[in-house]
Amino acid sequence: MTASPIPWVDLRPREDRAAVDAAIRRVLDRGWYVLGPEVDAFETEFAQATSSGQTIAVASGTDALTLILRALGIGPGDEVITTALSAVYTAQAVMMSGARPVFADIDPERLTLDPAAVATLVGPRTAAVMPVHLYGQPADLTAIRTLTQRHGLALIEDCCQAHLGTCDGVPVGTTGDAAAYSFYPTKNLGALGDGGAVCTGNGELAARIRRLRNGGQTERDQHTEPASHSRLDELQAAVLRARLPHLRDWTTRRRVLAGRYRSGLVGSAVRVPPELDAGHVYHLFPIRTAARDALRAHLRAQDIDTLVHFPVPIPAQPAFATTTPQSCPLADAVCDELVSLPLYPGLDDAAVDRVLAAVADWSGPDRG
Ligand SMILES: Cc1ncc(COP(=O)(O)O)c(C=O)c1O
Repeated sequence: MTASPIPWVDLRPREDRAAVDAAIRRVLDRGWYVLGPEVDAFETEFAQATSSGQTIAVASGTDALTLILRALGIGPGDEVITTALSAVYTAQAVMMSGARPVFADIDPERLTLDPAAVATLVGPRTAAVMPVHLYGQPADLTAIRTLTQRHGLALIEDCCQAHLGTCDGVPVGTTGDAAAYSFYPTKNLGALGDGGAVCTGNGELAARIRRLRNGGQTERDQHTEPASHSRLDELQAAVLRARLPHLRDWTTRRRVLAGRYRSGLVGSAVRVPPELDAGHVYHLFPIRTAARDALRAHLRAQDIDTLVHFPVPIPAQPAFATTTPQSCPLADAVCDELVSLPLYPGLDDAAVDRVLAAVADWSGPDRG
């Protein structure tokens, strides 16, 4: 009997199926689709789950970041220091705000924004620092917070890959001025389409973001500033409410799977980035090898799917050609080596063992 393919991710509902079905039916039966009771309830429940002061549900993680910047008054003429290694949307949000991203290199172990690199880039135009809790591993918030406080800069946490993560025991998204979440379907908490949220303990900022996500409206027919729409719809909010009660167990399962990979990969031909904080929530499980394409081909031949997060450092994307070139050699090198192995709550132990056996069977250039 041939083994079934192991996809990189499987987004079909499982233990959440009945609740998701019921949530969709509830919204259809109610006939209320935008900014209604599901969004209100989700905002309360997500704020509680993340230990945040307030949640404002928006249309995507990219919008969440863009709206935070705009609501903080950051725009043309300002610079935002962020990481060269992330989903490109982190820096796209800065561009969309009218500010300019300034790229700092990564910590070689943690793979997140290096506070020492940030310190060298702070200048008169710097308005904010935007770390990313990449792959679910928290950035070094303690050091970054010290820096932003010393220079009077805003701190915006990109939590799009780190739902329920903690940094030194403190929930991610609660250290800075505001945090952005994505509910893109592959995220640790995923919708059936796009979605995002801002979390903040700053009431004034929250009120402005509520206006900015809704056409600048303060009350019916009162629009106090130019703005577009960026709203999570009722269907997505209802689905997210159905899934949120599972998130803690799903996170535990991610950690168990990551532990199985970690112990199984000791002595293999690949390098595994260390877990530098017990609050890592394993959105992804990237490994490193100088022969990334060969490893991917070897796994593909055994019906094991992988992806790369991310093959191109953000500053090298043409979209950022107008920004001041920054040298980020560590991010450049890592982008050539990363491979994300399958990891999602529905992945079973037998599949992980098959991946481990396939990697063990591969003699890449890093063994030794
Ligand atoms: C780290 C990070 N930031 C921002 C985003 C943007 O989120 P969205 O796709 O919901 O706009 C993503 C998702 O791709 C992400 O992974």
